[in-house]
Amino acid sequence: MIPGPIDPPARLLMGPGPISAYPSVLSAMSAPLVGQYDPFMTSAMAETQELYRGVWSTTNDATLLVDGTSRAGIEAAMVSLVRPGDRVLVPVFGRFGHLLAEIAERALAEVHTIETAWGQVFPASVIEEAIIRVQPTLLALVQGDTSTTMSQPLDEIGAICARHGVLFYSDATASLGGNDFEADAWGLDAASAGLQKCLGGPSGSAPITLSERAVEVVTARKKIEAGIREPGDPSAPDFVRSNYFDLGMILDYWGPRRLNHHTEATSMLYAARECARVLLLEGRGEVIARHELAGRAMLEGVRALGLVVFGDVAHKMNNVVAVEIPEGVPGDVARAAMLEDFGIEIGTSFGPLHGRVWRIGTMGYNARKDAVLTTLVALEAVLRRYGASVPVGGGVEAAADVYRAAA
Ligand SMILES: Cc1ncc(COP(=O)(O)O)c(C=O)c1O
Repeated sequence: MIPGPIDPPARLLMGPGPISAYPSVLSAMSAPLVGQYDPFMTSAMAETQELYRGVWSTTNDATLLVDGTSRAGIEAAMVSLVRPGDRVLVPVFGRFGHLLAEIAERALAEVHTIETAWGQVFPASVIEEAIIRVQPTLLALVQGDTSTTMSQPLDEIGAICARHGVLFYSDATASLGGNDFEADAWGLDAASAGLQKCLGGPSGSAPITLSERAVEVVTARKKIEAGIREPGDPSAPDFVRSNYFDLGMILDYWGPRRLNHHTEATSMLYAARECARVLLLEGRGEVIARHELAGRAMLEGVRALGLVVFGDVAHKMNNVVAVEIPEGVPGDVARAAMLEDFGIEIGTSFGPLHGRVWRIGTMGYNARKDAVLTTLVALEAVLRRYGASVPVGGGVEAAADVYRAAA
């Protein structure tokens, strides 16, 4: 039997991402397609690059999209920046640090990790000590690790890397747009993200930015494939071992040469462009402030419901909070009830935190008062249903108070 046309149920996505997209992002995605080299397409690509310079707070010419989900951006950065045998240092404070180490390992790097307990972040001095000991080519550091909700301060790390001649890459998938990120001021050589968190779009496009130093590294390892290679094109012996993620070729596609590498994912380009456009239209600082406010309202709301917040709250990302599932409450059953009865999705976590915490996000389009209050109403009802003793209306009132005080 042939299924009917796609008709998803109404959902309020209040997990750690993906989240409900901005309506204008969804409409941008249904705009008509144009050819790969249509002047409209190439100018939309150039506009998208300029918009993301604003989002990343950079003047990097090499600011573009990698087609694929966030890990495509991570993988492109890693395979293009890291030569086999290079030392890569990854400070791990959650699942996504492990992911960076895993991708670096597959890029045949000599991977060194330092770890801290989930729920904590690293003091800059600990990262510097590890850099001195390991002497890596690249430091790969997650900004916001969604698995634990923690936000690693990055502002001192670029200067440390510069002092020791280390390239500095950060995965800002979960944090970009909802928390400060200053690619240039913080000395980033490379950073990548995805749309499905604070940027308020669907997953499937990975914004990335590269400093001039990073561009030199990836360009020196570029290999242009036969069929489009031209006389005089370099062919480095230690070329990037992935064709799809060879950032040198991808840069030539986005640059004046318009090298026919892949076919840009047009509808995702439209989505990414709209995500950045709505963010900059509202104002970068204003969007971060909206995330901070929604995050604080949710934090006070869950606390007022008597829930214990996981981790070092002083280092929590603005856009997601993890709460311990109360004793006796069946975590997955209660989450399913949130979804079935209220159409609200919240998340559990991974590894040591699976079944121990729920993660509740307030990001992108859903960093809104009504989304926060509705989620708290539903959470209160479900907690009570499964035996937790929760104060009537306490969560909603505490969150509303935060909004009232900010008005
Ligand atoms: C910090 C971080 N990095 C990487 C990823 C991987 O993203 P994707 O699933 O879009 O490939 C995620 C996804 O949640 C994430 O939160």
